[in-house]
Amino acid sequence: MALVIIAIAMLMRVASSRCAPVCHLGYPTHGTEVSGHDEDLIHFSLNLEFLEAEMFLWNAFGYGLDHAAPELVNGGPPPIAPQKANLDSLTRNITGEFGLQEIGHIRSIIRTVGGFRRPLVNLSAANFAMMMDEAFGHKLHVGSLHSALLGYVGANSFLIGYLSKRLVAGLLGVEDAVVREYLYERAAEVVWPYNHTVAEFTSQISELRNRLAKCGVKC
Ligand SMILES: *[C@@H]1O[C@H](CO)[C@@H](O)[C@H](O)[C@H]1NC(C)=O
Ligand SMILES: *[C@@H]1O[C@H](CO)[C@@H](O)[C@H](O)[C@H]1NC(C)=O
Ligand SMILES: *[C@@H]1O[C@H](CO)[C@@H](O)[C@H](O)[C@H]1NC(C)=O
Repeated sequence: MALVIIAIAMLMRVASSRCAPVCHLGYPTHGTEVSGHDEDLIHFSLNLEFLEAEMFLWNAFGYGLDHAAPELVNGGPPPIAPQKANLDSLTRNITGEFGLQEIGHIRSIIRTVGGFRRPLVNLSAANFAMMMDEAFGHKLHVGSLHSALLGYVGANSFLIGYLSKRLVAGLLGVEDAVVREYLYERAAEVVWPYNHTVAEFTSQISELRNRLAKCGVKC
């Protein structure tokens, strides 16, 4: 199950970035730095950052923010049913790196617009299983993870303040490219315990993601 969790986590990142808009960076000549509206959207993103940080850290190291960066937790409850994943060395290294990057993202957000208590996140295997069932169309349940991971793309298209845009563009960065390549190299591998390949998962999850985000409309 642990391998599935990390595979799904990585697939979700690809799926969630599929229709990422191209941001034109740089400082505009006028406008506010961070509008109140942007703060709301970035705070929304902070929920995702907490989720991702906990997931990657736990998968890679077997502990989360409570151990890695307790000052960021701000009294929030620990995640439900997180697990260390059974990963090969390369995958663990990549995953751990992502976890550490998420800590940096949370710090940037808190520095820019302030923070809040870590929300309760449910990282149980049952939740991941539910998401997969939905991607493959065998059940109608909606898991909690995927809807959360859709946040960036949607939020980014509404941002007004340029500082916010730069911040969010930074958050959308390097990880997705790494994950894409990683998955591409493993496209033909079967994802245990499912009888489906990485390529099938990528495609199903991308479709699920597009259905949920109404990609063409939003981006
Ligand atoms: C993963 O990181 C460890 C510690 O830095 C290193 O010894 C190991 O070679 C890395 N594994 C791979 C496959 O790069
Ligand atoms: C976590 O999610 C799973 C699957 O949705 C659910 O069965 C379980 O009750 C949840 N755990 C808690 C403590 O809410
Ligand atoms: C797994 O999938 C392959 C290819 O779709 C199929 O040929 C095989 O029968 C499946 N095995 C099981 C146990 O479902």
